[in-house]
Amino acid sequence: MYLTRDEEGVLAGEEGESSRKAMELVVALGKIYGAEDLIDITSAHLSGASYKTIGDGGLKYLEDVVKGGARVSVPSTLNPIGMDRDRWKEMHISPAFAEKQLKIIELYKKIGVAATCSCTPYLGDNVPSMGDHVAWAESSALSFVNSYIGARTNREGGPGALASAIIGKTANYGLHIMENRKPSVIVDADIDGSVFSYSMLGQAVGMAIGGGIPYFRNIAPTVDDAKTMSAAMAASGSVAMYHVEDVTPEAGNYDISGLEVIHIGEKELKEAYDKLNTADDVQLIALGCPHLSRKEMKDIAAFLKGKKKKNKDIEIWFCTSSKVREECAEEVKIMEEFGPVLADTCMVVAPIEGVFKRTGTNSAKAGNYLPTLCSQEVACMDISKLMEVVI
Ligand code: F3S
Repeated sequence: MYLTRDEEGVLAGEEGESSRKAMELVVALGKIYGAEDLIDITSAHLSGASYKTIGDGGLKYLEDVVKGGARVSVPSTLNPIGMDRDRWKEMHISPAFAEKQLKIIELYKKIGVAATCSCTPYLGDNVPSMGDHVAWAESSALSFVNSYIGARTNREGGPGALASAIIGKTANYGLHIMENRKPSVIVDADIDGSVFSYSMLGQAVGMAIGGGIPYFRNIAPTVDDAKTMSAAMAASGSVAMYHVEDVTPEAGNYDISGLEVIHIGEKELKEAYDKLNTADDVQLIALGCPHLSRKEMKDIAAFLKGKKKKNKDIEIWFCTSSKVREECAEEVKIMEEFGPVLADTCMVVAPIEGVFKRTGTNSAKAGNYLPTLCSQEVACMDISKLMEVVI
């Protein structure tokens, strides 16, 4: 693998131990995946922010990174943490968990990471441009920026994205290379166009193809539709990029003649729905996977306005970024009549197991992860249907 003189210097420890280790990891990944060289990145987005997912081992790793004097060298943001920083008691979080979680945030801040803690950084202050090379580690977000924006990233793991953030480079392979971004299958989609139908479409496509780069026909996703579909396909399969005819910026770049065509319609959507729905009733309804956008906050507030919460036993959580929560004060007021609007956390990375057993969500991604990461039975349906039991 070719390294420039400067890169060789970093690898030899000329810029300190933390940079040396980061370079070592990025080069090792590059060798595994057959990269010819490294490429500069314009931003990073890091996973591994919740104490629930990284535990004491991850905390210790971060302490070592800080002790080694590391700093990120490109704008870097962080994924959701295991609790709302201020309202963790409302989430039934223990003081011991909260203490460690806050420590993790402080460690990331010390190395220069913006502790905005959202899985939709592209709706906030970390918005790549078309053609930018980035190192992003949140599967839903990286698929969104690859597909909808035309930035370029592989599906980075937490340590790899952190190492790239420190050296400002990533290994040049996979989706950083134009040729590897070509579609692998055409998806002829037949959905009703609701946000929830995009979530089920993503689920069904992930179940049907596993990986690869689907090229969609007959859909016109908005940002919110693409957000939920990206998340669903990355969770039910390992799709890190897709094209949508006449919508996404690179869709017209490739010759798609001769590609296999699959149809996703009523039957496949029902199979996707049935796979995700395992609970008959719920104790928690959690919305905002990926984090609620401003528009979704407005839509939910408009839906709830004038209604009353009748079933007080069922908790409702709305998950978004602190930026969106701040900007939507009017909507928050209406929503808080039903449950807390929580910032910078989510139902999956929070330790809800032990508190709840059955959770409702409108997100296929959450529907995939709640059973495995949170031991939940799941009701996965659109918001108005979910809310029927409480309003
Ligand atoms: Fe975001 Fe949590 Fe879903 S990180 S994509 S809200 S599982």
